[in-house]
Formats: sequence, C-alpha cells, structure tokens
Amino acid sequence: MQNQNDQSRMDRIVSLAKRRGFIFQSSEIYGGLNGFWDYGPLGVALKRNLKDAWWHDMVAGHDELATLAGAPSPYEMTGLDCTIIMHPQVWKCSGHFDLFHDWMIDCRESKRRYRYDHLHGRWAAHRGKKVFVTTDASGDEAAPETVARAQKFFGLRAKQVDEIEWGGGLESLQQAIAAGSATLADTLGPDATAPGSLTEPREFNLMFETRIGALAGDDEDRAFLRPETAQGIFVNFKNVLDTSRVRVPFGIAQVGKSFRNEITPRNFTFRSREFEQMEIEFFCKPADSAAWYRYWRDRRWKWYLDLGLTAGRLQLREHAADELSHYSVGTADIEYAFPFLAAGEFGELEGIAHRGDFDLRSHMEGKLVRQDGGLVVETGPDGKPRHKGSGKDLSYFDDITRERFVPHVIEPSAGADRATLAFLCDAYHEDEVPDEDGKPRSRTVLKLHPRLAPVKAAILPLVKKDGMPDLYRALKPHMACQYDEKGSVGRRYARQDEAGTPWCLTVDGQSLADRTVTLRDRDSLVQQRVAIDEVVDLLRDKLS
Ligand code: GAP
Repeated sequence: MQNQNDQSRMDRIVSLAKRRGFIFQSSEIYGGLNGFWDYGPLGVALKRNLKDAWWHDMVAGHDELATLAGAPSPYEMTGLDCTIIMHPQVWKCSGHFDLFHDWMIDCRESKRRYRYDHLHGRWAAHRGKKVFVTTDASGDEAAPETVARAQKFFGLRAKQVDEIEWGGGLESLQQAIAAGSATLADTLGPDATAPGSLTEPREFNLMFETRIGALAGDDEDRAFLRPETAQGIFVNFKNVLDTSRVRVPFGIAQVGKSFRNEITPRNFTFRSREFEQMEIEFFCKPADSAAWYRYWRDRRWKWYLDLGLTAGRLQLREHAADELSHYSVGTADIEYAFPFLAAGEFGELEGIAHRGDFDLRSHMEGKLVRQDGGLVVETGPDGKPRHKGSGKDLSYFDDITRERFVPHVIEPSAGADRATLAFLCDAYHEDEVPDEDGKPRSRTVLKLHPRLAPVKAAILPLVKKDGMPDLYRALKPHMACQYDEKGSVGRRYARQDEAGTPWCLTVDGQSLADRTVTLRDRDSLVQQRVAIDEVVDLLRDKLS
C-alpha cells in the first residue's frame, strides 16, 4: 500500500536503489563497509541535482536586491569550499573535542557495540524467572524482536509464547536504568544469551582521528576529519568580510563531506559515517536574529515542499528548551516520515538553529561554557582558558550605524544524503498502467520532481532510420537525456519510469513524414503529439 511506513516498502526501495544503480554499498566486492555508501550512475545524478537545486535556490539564484517573503530585509549570499582537515584547535574551541560524543555500551558475550540511547527493552517473566529483554531494532520491528528473544531465553516453543508475562511496554534502557526500574545485571543484551553481559556505558567521541605528516607520532600531529562543514565557515568569517563586499546581514553557504564515527550506522544511508552536508551560516544583527531565525525556518521548510516532498510526511518540530544544545537559543528540525520508522515517527532532514554569538566568540576567545545564563570562557585548574581561541577580532563594524557587534548566527544545516533518501522514498510508487495491448501491468515508478530526476527525457525510436538521433542531439546540450532503442516500447517506458524520467519521446513512422513525436508524461500518462522543432523549448519550459 502507498505512503505507509513499513519495512517491506523500504526493502523494495533499497532493492530498486541497488538494481537500478542509485546506491551501492561501499567496497561491496569485499563484503562492504558498515556506514559507507557509493552513489551509482543514477544516484550520483539525483544527489548532484539536489545539491545544485539547493545551491541555486539559496545562493547562486538569490536576489539580494529584493526583500523576500518573510525576510526582515534584503540580504546577500555567498559561498565557501573549505578543507576537511582543519587546525585541531578549531574542534577544541567549537566544543567538538570535549563534547561531540555518544554513549556506547559493549556486550562482553557477543562482542557487539551499541549506542546506549538506541537500546530499548521490557521486563519479561516466566515461571518465576525474570529478565529485562533488550533490542537494538527500531521501528515496528522492536516489539516482536523482544518477544522472539524472550521466547528463546526462556526456552519456550512458539505456542507457549502467551505464557510470558510482560511488565509493561518497550522503554529506553537508558531511562529505565536512570529511573532504577532496571539494572545492567538483569538486562539481556540484544545479542546475548544470558543477562549481565552489558558493560557500563562509556563516552565515545564521534570524530574520526588521523595524523598529519610522514613522521607523525606525538600529540601535535593529531588531526580530525570534520564532523560538520560549519566550522570552516566560522573560521573564514573575517576572510570573507575582508575580501568581498558583503554586509551584515549575509549568509555563507557550503556543501561538502562530513565524517562521524557513528557507533551504530543504520537505516540505509540515513545514518552514515561519511555523508554530505549543505550548510548556511547566516550572520545578522543580534536584535534582528529572532526574525531571521523564523525566516530561515519557514524558507527551508517550503523548499522541501516546493521540490515535491509530501506535506503529510513532513514535520516541522521546534525543540523544547531542555533539548537545545548548550549554545542554542532556538532550534527547529524539519523531519520526514521515512518508511523504516514506526508509524508516527519522523527522522531529521535538517536542523535550523539560532546559535547566537557562540561560534564567532568561541573562535575569538576560546571554548565557551554556559554559566549563570550567559556564555563564559571555560578555564582549567590554572585559571587559563581550557582551549585558547585565535585571539583574532571577529566582530563586525557597521559603517552606516557606526555600531560594532559580534553577529548572531542562524544555521540551516541540511544533509544531502538524507534529503536524497527522503526524495527517493517519497517518489517511490507502485501502480498499474495499461500495456501496449491495453491490459493493466504493474509498474514501479519514481515520481521525482523534474529538477531532481537524473534523466529528464528519453528518446525512444520505434523505427530505426537515419537521422533519428537528431532529436537526442538537439536536447542533450539543454538537459540530461537518454537514447534507448532496445526492447519493446513497454519495456523502455518501464525502465524510464523506474529511473524517474519525467518525459519520454517516441519517434515512429509518422515522425519522418510530419516531423512530430509522441510526448508521454510519466505521472499523468497523457500522450500528446508535438512538433520535433518545438520539443527543446517545450521541455525547457516545463523544467523551469
Ligand atoms: N552544523 C550543525 C550540524 O552539523 P547536525 O544536526 O548534527 O547539525 C545536520 O547535522 C544534518 O546533517 C542533519 O540534519 C542530517 O541531515 C545530516 N547528518 C548528520 N549526521 C548524519 C549521518 N550520520 N548520516 C547522514 N546524515 C547526517
């Protein structure tokens, strides 16, 4: 059934992604590498189209002379492309070195490692024996998994499962232990056969570490792969100000790879260890920052809708005060109901955060901590900054108002891989179309927005005659198109539907006589006869 959260639908999407060359496991011939993914011929085009649409809509196509709907004033946008490895002090001042960690838990028996907050469990009892059964399965799979594990633990046959007494529903292991309603000694790990095998939770920094230089060895050579693209923008703030004519308010955008050593990468590309981000750091006057925060939250929300994500599967969620990062004054997440999640659950596509002056001040003064409602430089036992800042002045002087201030930052931070996955899942449809004889045949179709579709048009000649590739050659300089003369026309349509191609052009016997072709629309299936000489303009119009 369409538009439902279910794992089998997700499995069919993953299978299409592999079969049609959207996404492959990295290093697959060696068994793959958990948390790393490669984009195949169609996938690279889809993801590139998504990033290009973002860059065009946010940066290159931005009209800095106009006041856009909802914006407090006109503003400028510019871009950067920074390195993946940066000075280690960047991560010390940003807080990532000390704070960018997850809690992990190991199983002494199975030797498996889990993210503490991913484990859920519930009490199960049978004939006086009690155990807190856990699982790391997510979504709708979690509850049945605990039943199967309890059945195995108590050594029951399938028909005896009803004899298990359950002490309530699934709850987070972390919360159950914090509340004292479970202990690690009573807990049956997700892959263990006996309780008590899980270790105490430990912190695990998510930054990938590397060494710089051939003779690398001591602590000075330690470096990190960036876990976000944002910091490259903050440390270049002054360079951009000094070399371009931008004035506050303005934004700097960056698209690029980020790396996080996720403890349990999962759900296809959703949580990967190497992924791409599309981030904007928007610098504004402190007094205007709340209005800019609202502008960017609404603008980014609308972007996903305009590119065709189903409104009913999207959610804009303002964070509660206790959810905010230590620096954040306000954050909203744009979330999507991915099919691998349980009904009613959403996964984050993008966060829009009001970061105040935390970032620029951190890189001036040193790592900041919140104290008495304000931000102060964290000091060590010697009273000196724990992590020293650059000492460079990153304030801004407004030569019209003659004011000097440290700009506040609004950060719309999106994941290119998560967005690609959301568009892929949303576009996936199974329906029925009439075949060449008018009989219904089931088809799989990706109803991607034409801007995102890897191939915009397919030219399908039904007759092999000289000159047929002409239309293809006329169209190719304007948009990605394919020439396909293999197989029945039905099979060719099916191939293009699965690839998400919005328009197919069939060239037949009549084409040579009257210079017309049949244009078939992927979604409406409407077919119309159009003049060959008008095809390029017609499709360019549709695309724009
Ligand atoms: N600079 C802020 C920042 O990085 P974040 O919420 O940690 O914020 C922003 O990340 C976006 O990056 C997320 O909304 C998500 O789309 C993407 N992202 C984060 N971790 C990811 C992962 N492990 N795999 C894929 N995408 C990820």
